[in-house]
Order: sequence, then structure tokens, then C-alpha cells
Amino acid sequence: MYTEKVMDHFEHPRNVGEIENASGMGTVGNAKCGDIMRIYLDIDENGIINDVKFKTFGCGAAVATSSMATEMVKGKSIQEAMEVTNKAVCEALDGLPPVKVHCSLLAEEAIHAALWDYAQKNGIEIQGLKKPK
Ligand code: FES
Ligand code: FES
Repeated sequence: MYTEKVMDHFEHPRNVGEIENASGMGTVGNAKCGDIMRIYLDIDENGIINDVKFKTFGCGAAVATSSMATEMVKGKSIQEAMEVTNKAVCEALDGLPPVKVHCSLLAEEAIHAALWDYAQKNGIEIQGLKKPK
């Protein structure tokens, strides 16, 4: 049912934890299942995501997608991080079972919420970023 990459990220999730005094933090819930995810970003003065950590109360697919998503935004610019969509994360994991695709939405939404938090704190606007629900 799950690809090797999904199992690998589920069993050995990358970047689990929290960042004290994070530049941006986002917490989102999945309306479909009630699972919760929080993402912390450490963004330097050049707008590069130096570090990222996540925590989730969620299913295996949520853990695997968060883990992959954190790997995909680490070391990237804010605009590059905006391109890490749930679709991109699913593809990087070689796919998720159809019933589990909603799980991958959490990671994208949590990253966006954390970027929104960062933008608010710094009084900047991030192109293409909408206010989190
Ligand atoms: Fe139970 Fe996702 S619905 S862990
Ligand atoms: Fe809820 Fe996967 S079942 S995030």
C-alpha cells in the first residue's frame, strides 16, 4: 500500500522537534480527520530557511509527508519553499494511496502558516501566500 520512501520517512522521520524562538511557526489541523501538525522555520536575514522542524499528531502518511516536506524546504529561499506543494511532496514520496492524499495537505498548509507568521512578524509580503484559515 505504501511506497518504500513513505515507509522510510515514516520509520525515520527527518527534522522532528521544535525550534526555540523560531522565525515563523504554523499550526494547522486537517478538517477531514482532525490530525494536527506544527512547523517551525528558522529563516536568516537573506530569506533562506536555515532550519525547519515539525511535530505532528497524525497518521503515518502525515508523518512521512511532513518529513519529506521539511527536507524539501531546508536550505531553500522563501519563494522556493512556496513551490513545495502537497503534489510535489507526494511525487517525491513516489505517491500516496488515494485515501491518504488529504494527509499531505497538512504539510503544505503548515509551511504556509509558518511563512505567514514570519511575514507578519517582519512586516513583509510573500508573493502568492494567502492568509491561513
Ligand atoms: Fe487517524 Fe489520521 S485519521 S491518524
Ligand atoms: Fe489525517 Fe492522515 S489521516 S493526516
